[in-house]
Amino acid sequence: MVSSTQVELNIFQDLDDLSRQTATRFAGFARDAVRMEGRFTVALSGGSTPQLTYSLLAQEALRSQIPWDAIHIFWGDERCVPLERPDNHFTMTTELLLSKVPIPEGNVRRMRGEAANPHEAAPEYEGSLREFFGLGPTGIPRFDLILLGMGADGHTASLFPGSPGLEERDKLVVAHYVPKVGMNRLTLTYPVLNNARVIMFLAAGNEKAEALKSVLADDTCGPILPARLVKPVEGEVIWMVDRAAARLLDR
Ligand code: 6PG
Repeated sequence: MVSSTQVELNIFQDLDDLSRQTATRFAGFARDAVRMEGRFTVALSGGSTPQLTYSLLAQEALRSQIPWDAIHIFWGDERCVPLERPDNHFTMTTELLLSKVPIPEGNVRRMRGEAANPHEAAPEYEGSLREFFGLGPTGIPRFDLILLGMGADGHTASLFPGSPGLEERDKLVVAHYVPKVGMNRLTLTYPVLNNARVIMFLAAGNEKAEALKSVLADDTCGPILPARLVKPVEGEVIWMVDRAAARLLDR
């Protein structure tokens, strides 16, 4: 079978515009998946860039267009910090989105970033993915949508340059310590990211420009940044970026 990854690049004026379009497309993907499959499975990202998108999804214009009882929420990664911390992805998303929409509690599956031992929380999350998607020990979930961000160093989810989890080909979820941020992280691995139907990357701001140029480059020169290895085998990558992040791209 020939596999290919389609890449779509969208450049917006600013984060506002980017967020509106992302939220609108999210709602469209959700409606289409529910119409065709009866449910929509999505892994969310953390960080600052998606926050406005989450707030917009909770506002009336979009909120009532999304069949929340058929939406199943997961995360692409989690910071290993107490649940009370605002930078915990689940906590941030709950505050901006999940507490404001009629999604059944049982449809939200979070990574236990607050666990005393992240190496136990990773297989636990893998277990909940296998159960939800009805997978055997070697199956890989196929998300309808995975939202990802990208750091200025090209990391995505919590796959940082040099992270041991970059090499993982069997486990669906790993925990590793990230010296750069001085904390443990839980993250989905490439086998899961690269089995998605759609990956939507959000990147905004000047500091993302170098990494974006490198990740989108056709040539094989330069470092292979983690975000560049996100290439779903039978899926699509959609970049939603602002002009500042796109400033070094040849157009
Ligand atoms: C995190 C993320 C990470 C994030 C990028 C971009 O924990 O921070 O999961 O992959 O998406 O670092 O973050 P910003 O959106 O804050 O720039």
